[in-house]
Amino acid sequence: MSFNSAVASRHAAPTVGAAGNGVHSMEARNIHKSFGSQQVLTGLNLQFQDDAITTILGPSGTGKSVLIKHLVGLLEPDEGEVLILGQDLWKISEKERYDLRTRMGVLFQDGALFGSLSVYDNTAFPLRKHTDKSEDEIREIVTRRLSEVGLDKAHNKLPNEISGGMRKRAGFARALVMDPAIVFFDEPDSGLDPVRTSLLNDLILDMHAEHQGTYLLVTHDIRTARKVSDYVGLIWKGKVVHYGEAEEAFASGDPFVRQFLSGESAGPLGMD
Ligand SMILES: Nc1ncnc2c1ncn2[C@@H]1O[C@H](COP(=O)(O)OP(=O)(O)O)[C@@H](O)[C@H]1O
Ligand SMILES: [Mg+2]
Repeated sequence: MSFNSAVASRHAAPTVGAAGNGVHSMEARNIHKSFGSQQVLTGLNLQFQDDAITTILGPSGTGKSVLIKHLVGLLEPDEGEVLILGQDLWKISEKERYDLRTRMGVLFQDGALFGSLSVYDNTAFPLRKHTDKSEDEIREIVTRRLSEVGLDKAHNKLPNEISGGMRKRAGFARALVMDPAIVFFDEPDSGLDPVRTSLLNDLILDMHAEHQGTYLLVTHDIRTARKVSDYVGLIWKGKVVHYGEAEEAFASGDPFVRQFLSGESAGPLGMD
């Protein structure tokens, strides 16, 4: 028996949703996605825990970023449904999908700032684009957000004039500026040294405590996962093979989960 089928049989149960009955703010149902002949997502199911920080872990190239792109509505699944705030992303109009996207904030790897705009204008951008707030109101919000991420003194800097860590914090401020219900972080710790990673993780926790929301963080750094997660999801070969409370996952005796979360090479997980 291949390892994959062993894992699938042990973990195939529908994913937990402690909210139980009601609608989840974010759910992936049986998502399949291929690029050419390469199957990336192969029936991925996940009901994300509302108002919690879920961390998704998985080897590189397993489809973590592809999953985020589906949840944000940038990629359409070949099969399956993406439900955001109770709406099926691909059964609504383009306009409705666009509106839903304004309820989501995304922090991409490098902050994805506009190079020609100052930190202030980058952060103000979503408000100017999606709301009819006055410049006074915008200034109030942007100043507060930039202060929360420790960038009070960087309003007028261009992205290439600040450090990578500061760019991520600016990206974070921008991701939160619309008070999103759902926030995505795609490997926020990539390219940061351990100290800056730790500071960014503290910031994520502080911002979540302050503003709530359903956070999904993709990382391959186990320390980040340990520090910030309420829930942990493990992706393997295009499926979620484990989803549950972080504390339980990290204490798990399951050899697969243990190997996954310890990052060790010895164990049931093979390279192929
Ligand atoms: N737009 C695309 N076109 C073709 N292949 C893609 C595309 N996006 C992702 N892939 C492939 O899908 C796989 C998963 O990618 P990705 O989600 O970026 O992995 P990761 O888990 O490291 O984030 C990779 O093999 C990648 O090359
Ligand atoms: Mg990725």
